[in-house]
Amino acid sequence: MKINVKILRYNPEKDRKSHWETYPVEAAPGDRVLDVLNYVKWYVDPSLTFRRSCAHGICGSDAMLINGRNRLACKTLLQDIVKEGGTLTAEPIRGLKVEKDLLVDMEPFFDAYRAVMPFFVNNDPTPVGERIQSPEDAERMDHGSNCILCACCTTSCPIYWVNGRYLGPAAIVQAHRFIFDTRDHAARERLAILNQNTGVWRCRTAYNCTEACPRDIPITQLIEEVKRAEMYAQS
Ligand code: SF4
Ligand code: F3S
Ligand code: FES
Repeated sequence: MKINVKILRYNPEKDRKSHWETYPVEAAPGDRVLDVLNYVKWYVDPSLTFRRSCAHGICGSDAMLINGRNRLACKTLLQDIVKEGGTLTAEPIRGLKVEKDLLVDMEPFFDAYRAVMPFFVNNDPTPVGERIQSPEDAERMDHGSNCILCACCTTSCPIYWVNGRYLGPAAIVQAHRFIFDTRDHAARERLAILNQNTGVWRCRTAYNCTEACPRDIPITQLIEEVKRAEMYAQS
């Protein structure tokens, strides 16, 4: 099918602001948005810049605003978002500085991730075997463990757009994964970090994050669980 691929372009070396450029492309309905972007880059304009790696929804590097919604380019099929003769739009995710075309500076996102202590803390003597946990306890961490740090959630959050100091849903999901790990001993520290004015109370339950997550993580629910843990910790 023939479609138009409309991409928000920006080259800091020559553009004062971003602008749209449209490329007619012949593609199959089962092609992914990533295939189309690769086609434009490889055969039409090699200067087109975007981040990608695994091409299979694992590395989280090709999050972008596709037809107005945050998605992974490698997991989005054309047949689900555009018809014959229609237009596909691709823009950089919002709330982070655009470096070039669809490529944004992810450092503030990873700063927030690092701020919530996203690592296991337990200073007890190392056991001979494994640190045992019940299946039910392990299940509580499943959602957070599925996160691929793509930033689809944080960069779709209206609170994050207006205040980049908000740690954002992805960081809270990561904190949740360890706060509710029964083997970990630093929940109190993480809850103290998320109780600050950059933390969990900034969330206004907008749900954009949950709708944007390519891993179907119930992010808003996890945030609510962290809020309840905060109230419990303070009572
Ligand atoms: Fe991406 Fe979902 Fe992780 Fe957010 S919670 S960074 S949307 S995988
Ligand atoms: Fe933002 Fe998600 Fe809360 S979109 S306001 S973090 S529910
Ligand atoms: Fe790795 Fe899309 S390229 S998630």
